[in-house]
Amino acid sequence: MTTIEEKIIPYIPGDGVGQEIWQASQNVFDAAITKAYNGEKKIVWQEILAGEKSFNETGEWLPEATLDAIHAAKIAIKGPLTTPVGGGIRSINVTLRQKLDLFACVRPVRYFDGVPSPVKEPEKTDMVIFRENTEDVYAGIEFAIDDPKTKKIIDFLQNELDVTNIRFPETSGIGIKPISKEGSQRLVYAAIEYAIKQGRKSVTLVHKGNIMKFTEGGFKSWGYEVAENSFSDATFTMRQFDDIKATDGLKTAQNALKAAKEAGKVIINDVIADNFLQQILLYPERYDVVATTNLNGDYISDALAAQVGGIGISPGANINYHTGYAIFEATHGTAPDIAGLGKANPSSLLLSGVMMFEYLGWQEAADLITSAIETALINKQVTSDFASQLNDATLLTTQEFGDHLITLLNK
Ligand code: NAI
Repeated sequence: MTTIEEKIIPYIPGDGVGQEIWQASQNVFDAAITKAYNGEKKIVWQEILAGEKSFNETGEWLPEATLDAIHAAKIAIKGPLTTPVGGGIRSINVTLRQKLDLFACVRPVRYFDGVPSPVKEPEKTDMVIFRENTEDVYAGIEFAIDDPKTKKIIDFLQNELDVTNIRFPETSGIGIKPISKEGSQRLVYAAIEYAIKQGRKSVTLVHKGNIMKFTEGGFKSWGYEVAENSFSDATFTMRQFDDIKATDGLKTAQNALKAAKEAGKVIINDVIADNFLQQILLYPERYDVVATTNLNGDYISDALAAQVGGIGISPGANINYHTGYAIFEATHGTAPDIAGLGKANPSSLLLSGVMMFEYLGWQEAADLITSAIETALINKQVTSDFASQLNDATLLTTQEFGDHLITLLNK
């Protein structure tokens, strides 16, 4: 008798285009699992509430029952959610990440043949971004211009800490940027571990440590420390390169780097964030796994997503590698301008599902979906975001695109 492996997965369809892309995607997920496992594995989808739909039904943007369901299942998948305007929760996504301490935002960025891109050689971009998800200016510690606390903070800075360079102390808002050694190291650890497991060549620490020495600069040094202390056999850092260069000269350092590469070690280097945004346009092939702080990661993810064809096709996951909690999500917003029109591309959510299946170890289902998407894109059978930029494309609605993928993966 064969036992059926059933996995309960809570899902939030999401607002705006969420419902459409979820419907199309769920059908594809189920079809891929049936095809891959012939009924031996199955997902029991459990809808949970969050966002506008939840607010309309329960008066709450993020009900406790939703968090309980994610706690119980450990993983969940979601579409985009409307950010509430004014009062209460600032952003449901940020709240979910903080409540479940999902410290790594993981975004693979690769090019699919056939996708319209603004760069000449988009296929050279193949990176995985690890963005720190719980610290930095996203901690939400901000004080407004007219808040009496702002005056208190400014007085404290000026009188107790001898700060003299607040340019306009009477009319400033103040924000605080906490970045810790612990928070940085758990993120960089996850990135290096991923790079080693996946046979990736390098991990680049992207930071703005030239200006923010004790926060962004800290991230860089603590990152190097993780590599040197926890992965000394499997990595070679550019900090070690510099040390060898200082003591034994450039030639010896270059030889050590070459030997490390030949031995298949992961090279750990660092780049200042503004330079990095230039580098990814000029030499994307030089970068592989990227580990970065929260705000830098926000900019970098969108820039890289645009390079390979935009947010309609960029997946993401928020993961706590210690507890195992993970939420897989479409990275775009609710797209209110096209909601309900069948124009949305479900690929971002579909590829987030691929990440989820990989996380579960259901690689066969993941591969079936990826190759169906690859085939559809090469054949120019696409949703309106791509069809409008391609000659001779076949325009499909969101639902038709999903159905077409099911036909392809059953071939
Ligand atoms: P957006 O990502 O919803 O839309 C930006 C542009 O991209 C629009 O022109 C939209 O039509 C297009 N687009 C987005 N997803 C698409 C898809 N799957 N296929 C084809 N085209 C797509 O960003 P916007 O307009 O800034 O935000 C709208 C709402 O979404 C806001 O309430 C915002 O707070 C929320 N939001 C939620 C996110 C999440 O839940 N992860 C992320 C970003 C925004």
